Amino acid sequence: MQKILYPTILSLAMTAGLPAGAEPLFEQIKVDAGQALFNGECRRCHATDSSDPSYGPPLENVLGRAAGSVPDYPYSVALEASGIVWTEAALRAWIEDNDGFMPGTKMRHVGITDRTVQDFILAYLGSITTRDGSEIAK
Ligand code: HEC
Repeated sequence: MQKILYPTILSLAMTAGLPAGAEPLFEQIKVDAGQALFNGECRRCHATDSSDPSYGPPLENVLGRAAGSVPDYPYSVALEASGIVWTEAALRAWIEDNDGFMPGTKMRHVGITDRTVQDFILAYLGSITTRDGSEIAK
């Protein structure tokens, strides 16, 4: 339900245009929608707080982080040796087709191709990145 509802509300808001001063509210709506999507699609394998145990690497501060850099996490060779940085573009390619983007990764296939849904998840990942005030790489 949320998957269909949020993109619809957001595309309506985008088409209608935003009144002055609505930007922060709009951003918050995107983050909230992204959190709901993250909880549905990613949370079962990924903690957002590095002190929580999870099957996949924790994703706090992932935006702008070097791939495969959480200490002691047993990454695949493919991910560890990739040499990439998790920019918005790289994260978008990853959630669209992670094993196509990086053959050999051990993360099970995720195929989120809807750009609006990607935007929401990126907004949420961006919000958990800035929790400690670190800089965001675009
Ligand atoms: C079934 C479990 C599972 C699901 C669902 C999942 N992941 Fe992953 N994810 C993993 C595993 C395992 C890895 C480590 C992959 C490797 O080492 O090749 C990973 C790695 C990652 C990384 C690389 C992190 C780093 O430290 O380099 C990112 C980013 C990521 N996942 C994002 C997501 C997002 C966003 C979603 C939801 C759209 C998602 N994942 C869904 C299991 C999962």
